[in-house]
Amino acid sequence: MLIELKNIIKNYDNGGLITNVLRGINLEVKEGEFMAIMGPSGSGKSTLMHTIGFLDRPTSGEYLFDGIDTKDFTDDELARIRNERIGFVFQSFNLLPRTTVLDNVILPLLYSSSKKGLEQRAKNALEAVGLGERITFMSNQISGGQKQRVAIARALVCDPKVIFADEPTGNLDSKSGSTVMHILEKLNKEGRTIILVTHDINVALHAKRIVTIRDGEIISDRKVLEEERVHSKEAID
Ligand SMILES: Nc1ncnc2c1ncn2[C@@H]1O[C@H](COP(=O)(O)OP(=O)(O)O)[C@@H](O)[C@H]1O
Ligand SMILES: [Mg+2]
Repeated sequence: MLIELKNIIKNYDNGGLITNVLRGINLEVKEGEFMAIMGPSGSGKSTLMHTIGFLDRPTSGEYLFDGIDTKDFTDDELARIRNERIGFVFQSFNLLPRTTVLDNVILPLLYSSSKKGLEQRAKNALEAVGLGERITFMSNQISGGQKQRVAIARALVCDPKVIFADEPTGNLDSKSGSTVMHILEKLNKEGRTIILVTHDINVALHAKRIVTIRDGEIISDRKVLEEERVHSKEAID
């Protein structure tokens, strides 16, 4: 099992005011899955993604990643695993402005242990998202859809086991959103595990499994039937 969460609880303490955000999450994700996490705003989707992605530690509960209890990792070790095994894509792209597309994608490689052929690896990742021709553009001189594709290339460049995407189409028009979903589908077909957070059922139906949370609890966990799955026909140009 790639990811195993057992009774994960996450509370935030703001000056004595405790908010229970995750209230006992039990979840297993196998390598190669394509899972969507759905739920209304404020239900805990991003908090759950941050917990699974080592951006934040749970208050209590057990989290095994690749069979290893993550409690045993120091913060530095978690940061290294996060950099090498996990790729993140956010709604707001989070690219460095006034920096080229290529340099944005090279950036995570500078922190990784394998520094061979940085530029070639970044170019390969950009080709995989259809942006091989745009590498010298500044990241603020390309469209929103292209920015999100750069963000996917940046997530891909360290060859991660898992890609987390939090509302990746939330700031995009429907055509660019469809292209982004096409790329995520392709990456999953190639064997990558994808965990997608969305409140949009039409986006979630690209996945093979939908987990719904409400008020910090999983209220449903189901397979997406092949006949209801949505496949993006928007090819990358
Ligand atoms: N750092 C924090 N301190 C206190 N409350 C927080 C913090 N981060 C998130 N929350 C609260 O946790 C709940 C879930 O947030 P979030 O995981 O962002 O939900 P979603 O992504 O589903 O919209 C919200 O009520 C939010 O206000
Ligand atoms: Mg959120």
